[in-house]
Amino acid sequence: MTTAPQPPHPTVMAGYPVLAGPFGHLAAERERLSALRWKHFQAKQIGATLGAAISGVDLDPSLDEAVITELRHALHEYKVLFFRDQTMTGSQHVAVARRFGDLEVHPVLAKSADEDALVRFEKNAGVYGMENLWHQDVTWRSQPSMAAMLHAVTVPAIGGDTLFSDMYAAYDALDEQTRDEIDDLYAVHDFTHAFGKHMDADQAAEMRAKHPPVRHPVVCTHAVTGRKHLYVNRAFVSHFEGRDRASSLELLDRLCRFADYPEHQVRFTWTDKAVAFWDNRALQHYAASDYWPQVRTMERASIIGPTPVR
Ligand code: OGA
Ligand code: MN
Repeated sequence: MTTAPQPPHPTVMAGYPVLAGPFGHLAAERERLSALRWKHFQAKQIGATLGAAISGVDLDPSLDEAVITELRHALHEYKVLFFRDQTMTGSQHVAVARRFGDLEVHPVLAKSADEDALVRFEKNAGVYGMENLWHQDVTWRSQPSMAAMLHAVTVPAIGGDTLFSDMYAAYDALDEQTRDEIDDLYAVHDFTHAFGKHMDADQAAEMRAKHPPVRHPVVCTHAVTGRKHLYVNRAFVSHFEGRDRASSLELLDRLCRFADYPEHQVRFTWTDKAVAFWDNRALQHYAASDYWPQVRTMERASIIGPTPVR
């Protein structure tokens, strides 16, 4: 009888807290995804464990329920789906996103003129790309979004890619000692880190009253897949419960570094009218801010999720 080889683990570089070597923990998921086949569209896997280019279907609000169900399934498997050439008005974008659940209205970010549920990112020489920090969206809510659908209205000729990083893979990469340290730990998420600096004292106090800090498990069990994923990000986590901020930062940094490995990532180069539809629990994302002063205009609809659980 032969036994399957154990997946090799990367090792910590001597004197330097980063991993190098084979990311063997990706092998099973990579092979599992590569065997998937779909009835209503084609999916071309891009990253080892995340990202698929979808063809053969357009994001139309009147898609059959069977197609929506299969797209939802694909979203949970590949974690982010990419579509090209999706001609949609703002109201069509909202309508197709709503097929996947109720949509959130963001209390701070600019909205499209016609649609409350559509966040509009409009960057140019005077308005800078500030989303170049690994994060999940709105984790400072008690019910953060479970998914987001981002539509490119106008993208620069060069630059402005969006990167995604797999938080299941990040958890799988942790050593036993780190898992023991965080398996029962909660993180406090607070909007003021990222958004507070753009507000005056009155606005901040009003937001604080409506959106007090919330606690989420550091390790969550995904409500659909049942897999464990890391759920902390530098944009919104202020500290770990039971520790002050100063003594939280070393662990926060150590965990967030797992997003940095290219092996955990997929990178999407936009074209006008492309769509990225991502699982906002399983992935963090990062919008490269390398295109100034070019124009980059994007619209996002976000689907409200359940309260994350351990
Ligand atoms: C977002 C975001 C990504 C981008 O839409 O939530 O962070 O590529 N922006 O603009
Ligand atoms: Mn974001």
